[in-house]
Amino acid sequence: MSKMEDYIKDVTKWNKELRDFLDSEDVEQNNELWQRLDHFTEIMDGINGPLDIEALEKLQKQVDSLHSEMENYFSNRQQLGNIYMNESYISAGKHILPPLPYDYSALEPHISGEIMRLHHDKHHQSYVDGLNKAELMLQNARNNNDYSLVKHWSRELAFHGSGHYLHTIFWNNMSPEGGGKPSGALLKEMNKYFGSFEKFKSHFTEAAKQVEGVGWAILVWSPRARRLEILQSERHMLLTQWDTIPLLALDVWEHAYYLQYKNNRGDYIKNWWNVVNWKDVENRYLKASELKWKPF
Ligand SMILES: [Fe+2]
Repeated sequence: MSKMEDYIKDVTKWNKELRDFLDSEDVEQNNELWQRLDHFTEIMDGINGPLDIEALEKLQKQVDSLHSEMENYFSNRQQLGNIYMNESYISAGKHILPPLPYDYSALEPHISGEIMRLHHDKHHQSYVDGLNKAELMLQNARNNNDYSLVKHWSRELAFHGSGHYLHTIFWNNMSPEGGGKPSGALLKEMNKYFGSFEKFKSHFTEAAKQVEGVGWAILVWSPRARRLEILQSERHMLLTQWDTIPLLALDVWEHAYYLQYKNNRGDYIKNWWNVVNWKDVENRYLKASELKWKPF
């Protein structure tokens, strides 16, 4: 086998290993890294004989640039902690801020980069910190069998826990390629219960507008009723309907829109529909709807 054939064989093997790695890391399919890798796989699949010098140099350049992107990815992951690599669950106090699945400014003009940076880096981070603290304090309480502050820390646990989990859903519920309407099983389910997508959208919009004070509008799947529902959540934890799984969450806290929309929550909500990542909501629905309890 010639040196060139060896090289191409090695690169092909490396390409496969990269794909397996991204899969094992649960990297989103719409992540830029996947797009780069898909493009590279196409190039590799297209090679069906020896390459001339120019083509070989081009291939080497692609390999170099992909290699440095993977290195960047690794080092970003390491800055986030080694949780993705080693932990199969989150132990007390070990939550970390998930990275935004797109650039801060990717949702412009609907949501400004300034809001996204503040919202993700400051507000979400403070929920992560508060949740970790509450979990550790409750772990202390268990270890010392001292539950004198359990009401306080349980409230913190609910407040910061809901804040962390809902924001984690919220980021992925949106995408620069969002908008339009859902399809497939989720659309059928919406038609079945709400009458139509338009009726669902009106109901969800009004629910979001009319959240008392601050909070969320949330589309949920109820495993008990075995259908969708739209809930309002004041703050994060008041009026929460437990035993439901959030599928689509819209943040109507002022920090989500005030810098750009001032007090015009309605416009923010109207424009927000342009960035809804329905593929993500559909995936959440498909997974969540596997849960079934005895109906009452
Ligand atoms: Fe928020």
